[in-house]
Amino acid sequence: MKLAGQTAIVTGASGGIGAPLCAALAHAGVRVLAVGRNEARLRSLVQRMPADALHPVVADVVTPEGQARILEAAEAMHPAPSMLVVAHAQSAFGLFEEQDAESMARLVQTNLVAPMQLIRLLLPLLRTQERAAVAVVGSTFGSLAFPGFAAYSASKFGLRGLTEALAREYADSPVRFQYLSPRATRTPFNTAAVDALNEELKVASDAPADVARHLVRALERGTARLQLGWPEKLFARINGLVPGLVDRNLHASLPVIQRHGRRQHPTLPENAPHETLAR
Ligand SMILES: NC(=O)c1ccc[n+]([C@@H]2O[C@H](COP(=O)([O-])OP(=O)(O)OC[C@H]3O[C@@H](n4cnc5c(N)ncnc54)[C@H](OP(=O)(O)O)[C@@H]3O)[C@@H](O)[C@H]2O)c1
Repeated sequence: MKLAGQTAIVTGASGGIGAPLCAALAHAGVRVLAVGRNEARLRSLVQRMPADALHPVVADVVTPEGQARILEAAEAMHPAPSMLVVAHAQSAFGLFEEQDAESMARLVQTNLVAPMQLIRLLLPLLRTQERAAVAVVGSTFGSLAFPGFAAYSASKFGLRGLTEALAREYADSPVRFQYLSPRATRTPFNTAAVDALNEELKVASDAPADVARHLVRALERGTARLQLGWPEKLFARINGLVPGLVDRNLHASLPVIQRHGRRQHPTLPENAPHETLAR
């Protein structure tokens, strides 16, 4: 899709990946409805962009009021939006039984239910366009479920399923669905414990501006599925074909993951065996 002259709605606009993504879209001539909860961060982003390129929408994507505000802002845009980029999410790292039920529910609401509801709400508007795209920012953990990230992996697997099903359901419509997965990226999304885990497991991480550039290229090309990074591309494929191989590989890393997972919950004794955590 030729990007110049289009309008895009971007959630997670003030985020580590969202902000450079908005900047790259604005520089490609796209008008961006920048969605986030933190008004100050959105305003500061707007100030750094060319005039009239970014329009802040302060909204919590989980609430009906927030979703209504996004729809209202989208309906007021000229030209009408032809792109929805879902780039918000909540992160969660830690041992499964140490995560509280409320934050797990909130994570699924934010990462899966809200995107589902937003896409449903905005599709009638997107379908009025000659060509339109819904691009969902996923994760490697949406193809390869990772210990210590059970709820997050579940939400991203769901998001991948949602995107794939919609791509097939709307295959005869002007709307294209894209599932675009970054690997680890250096943003505030990752806690110090996650950074330490990645360092010890020698997991490479990307600069947010590079990720944003890949996402914009994928939007231009209409790439249906994108996994960034090597060996993540390979492992995601292997996990789909021979998951037992990945099970074995991750089993070897489990003590390291458990140690860093405990660090995320510092109330636990450093050497507590996994069974004793099942309280
Ligand atoms: N960073 C990584 O290592 C990594 C790796 C793979 C995939 N990803 C994916 O990439 C995407 C962007 O991640 P990031 O690194 O940019 O994260 P980030 O820096 O933590 O930014 C998250 C963004 O989501 C917004 N947000 C969260 N909950 C929201 C809600 N309820 N309503 C509205 N906005 C909400 C936040 O804005 P406010 O706080 O202002 O609301 C913020 O703009 C996510 O989908 C993430 O899963 C990230």
